[in-house]
Amino acid sequence: MPKKKKTTRKKGRRTRIKSRKSVSRKPTRKRVKRALRRTSASFPLKKPKGTFDILPEEEKYWQLIRENSEEIAKLYGFKRIDVPIFEQRELFERGVGPDTDIVEKELYTFKDKSGREYALRPEFTASIVRAYIENGMHKWPQPIKLFAIGPLFRYDRPQKGRYRQFYQFNLEVIGSIDPLIDAELIKVVLRIYETFGLEALNLEINSIGCAKCRPEYIKILKDYYKIHTRSLCRDCKRRLKTNPLRLLDCKEDKCSQLANRAPSMVDNLCDDCHIHFKKVLEYLDELGIGYNLNTRLVRGLDYYTKTVFEIWPKGVMGFSSQNSLGGGGRYDLLVKELGGKEMPAVGFAGGIERTIEEMKRQEVMIKEEKPDVFLAQIGDGGKKRALRFYDELIEAGFNVSANFSKDSIKSQLRLADKEGVKWSLIIGQKEAIDKTVIFRNMESGMQEIIDQGKAIKELKKRIKKESI
Ligand code: HAM
Repeated sequence: MPKKKKTTRKKGRRTRIKSRKSVSRKPTRKRVKRALRRTSASFPLKKPKGTFDILPEEEKYWQLIRENSEEIAKLYGFKRIDVPIFEQRELFERGVGPDTDIVEKELYTFKDKSGREYALRPEFTASIVRAYIENGMHKWPQPIKLFAIGPLFRYDRPQKGRYRQFYQFNLEVIGSIDPLIDAELIKVVLRIYETFGLEALNLEINSIGCAKCRPEYIKILKDYYKIHTRSLCRDCKRRLKTNPLRLLDCKEDKCSQLANRAPSMVDNLCDDCHIHFKKVLEYLDELGIGYNLNTRLVRGLDYYTKTVFEIWPKGVMGFSSQNSLGGGGRYDLLVKELGGKEMPAVGFAGGIERTIEEMKRQEVMIKEEKPDVFLAQIGDGGKKRALRFYDELIEAGFNVSANFSKDSIKSQLRLADKEGVKWSLIIGQKEAIDKTVIFRNMESGMQEIIDQGKAIKELKKRIKKESI
């Protein structure tokens, strides 16, 4: 027995000493590699929370939105701009507002090696205004119309329609105070959504006044809420001090009921804002654009003045900004706030993920591009010739499908069938030697032998005839 006790103690001591030693061991390259191998086996790498992969079968939606939004924007005079994915943190603090959720809770910030503080862009507007000022765009003929598209980052609580990396298409018009510009922007935005095949979207619109009339309204709003403070949610109690306008778009039940009865900004606008808003609505009427005057719409960014608006999906009732496909409005003070000249502006951003969800909900059909022809090969000689013929077909402008890793003609033709092509071209050993190619009509199964030299001309003729 005593012998046994001794061994146990020894073992324990040895283990403890060993583990202490391993902590102080230098992480040599070999050790790091070994550790990485161990972790990757037990924890396969995953995408970060709140992000997603766009898989090939989803790309048709993305492509349609990218192409159509930019094309329509261009037709209406917008020029493309690309801004950095990260900017000085201060830009968003000053631009979006220090008391907004985006800046308070959702910024992805980091210090670079020189100690400078940066943030991943949570939106486009502040960056575009920074670019407008920095590049002296105020000297160009005004207004400047800019279009941007790309990823943005917000440390949000991930859920349906809310991601940490998400995408927007974005339009800004900088340099005009004319209410016609607000209405024209809304028209362009609705035109863009139309080209996505979306129907019956709701335009929600409001005015949140300017630096002259809003402070007076906020006093009225605070007075209204003071007697109801105890019924407010925790966030709203805080917002009452920091950002009282945001009480109007709280989704908590009790707060929402209070917000429905709250005094509205449109009843408290100064003459200038009142006239501006009236004109925007008149222009919308003129353009035949229906809207819902939503006095609870305030938007979640601090830079807005006068007109604010959102696009809501079909059939969404009541207040729920979570569902907005996109939103925007006027920001007449932002250019000056960020160090430029006083320059009125208005803009909009559409969320691409939510737009795709709505397209799926409305069962929008997207026509997918089918290949014109399938190129099949048999045997080594056939494969070699087909490899060159593949390039010749592509250079001649055909959309060609092929699978050189498959040897069996049966499985290649099955693929061609699946892709819905009308013609398959087959090159085997014999055809490679005879310099011919087999034309197979996939509908009738009929086959013809054509000279390789004439094959491209012949295929063009047949495809052209079928498309008439
Ligand atoms: P926003 O309302 O913050 O406005 O965002 C616009 C749209 O982006 C939302 O309506 C929504 O569709 C989408 N979105 C926002 N956050 C997320 C998220 N976490 N996940 C998925 N989609 C999201 C702006 O960004 C302003 N910069 C718009 C603007 C341009 N105002 C003037 N010019």
